[in-house]
Amino acid sequence: MNYSKEVARSQRYFNPFSLLIYDAVLYGVISKFAWGSSIGRLDAHYRKYATSNHLEVGVGTGYLLDRIRFETTAPRLALMDLSASCLEKTRQKVARYRPEVYNQNLLEPIAHCPAPFDSIGINYVMHCVPGSFAEKGIAFRHLTKLLSDHGVLFGTSVLSESVNKNLLARPFMWLMNAMGVFNNRCDNAAELKTALEACGKLVYFEIVGVTAFFAIRKC
Ligand SMILES: C[S@@+](CC[C@H](N)C(=O)[O-])C[C@H]1O[C@@H](n2cnc3c(N)ncnc32)[C@H](O)[C@@H]1O
Repeated sequence: MNYSKEVARSQRYFNPFSLLIYDAVLYGVISKFAWGSSIGRLDAHYRKYATSNHLEVGVGTGYLLDRIRFETTAPRLALMDLSASCLEKTRQKVARYRPEVYNQNLLEPIAHCPAPFDSIGINYVMHCVPGSFAEKGIAFRHLTKLLSDHGVLFGTSVLSESVNKNLLARPFMWLMNAMGVFNNRCDNAAELKTALEACGKLVYFEIVGVTAFFAIRKC
């Protein structure tokens, strides 16, 4: 697959070995104490917007996805990611739903034509994607094409500009950017909002700690 060196650099860290410690580091410590978002707060965002016809984008280990209580026991669930390791780990975790699996770089036009989804989740993904929101916001445009008429795209992203970073957030975010896992040095709330509003009707936007929680509906 052909993608930029920044995308490749970030992807290097989403491998079977790092995924072994991912949940403990992110959900045990960093999400709550650096980014300001507890698991409960993230669960609530999923509870509000996830439907039984759901596409999860940038799946990681599938930690939050696995915690969703769908309205039906047999939801339609699809997974989309550039990392084969993330897709496989998450596919195994939610195998009970027999998920559809799509290998895709979000910066490229979607190479698949699945039936439309009523909800698309994109949690803690955009801060890894290179470019300003004016550039990487193209991912929202690609994804909203996969929504049904009444569908919702929701998620979170860690911001760097226009937020107050605490004593843990500051060095950890610096390190993530220096390593190339994150690409969010210039990410701010105003530009994220603009990128979202270019693709749908903004129905939710809140900054919690350094995390932007958002949801858009198809216009
Ligand atoms: C920080 S993890 C978030 C994982 C999970 N959503 C969570 O909340 O824990 C970022 C995820 O986005 C994926 N990702 C990053 N850049 C991507 C891109 N350009 N295209 C597709 N997936 C990407 C990574 O492979 C990884 O699964």
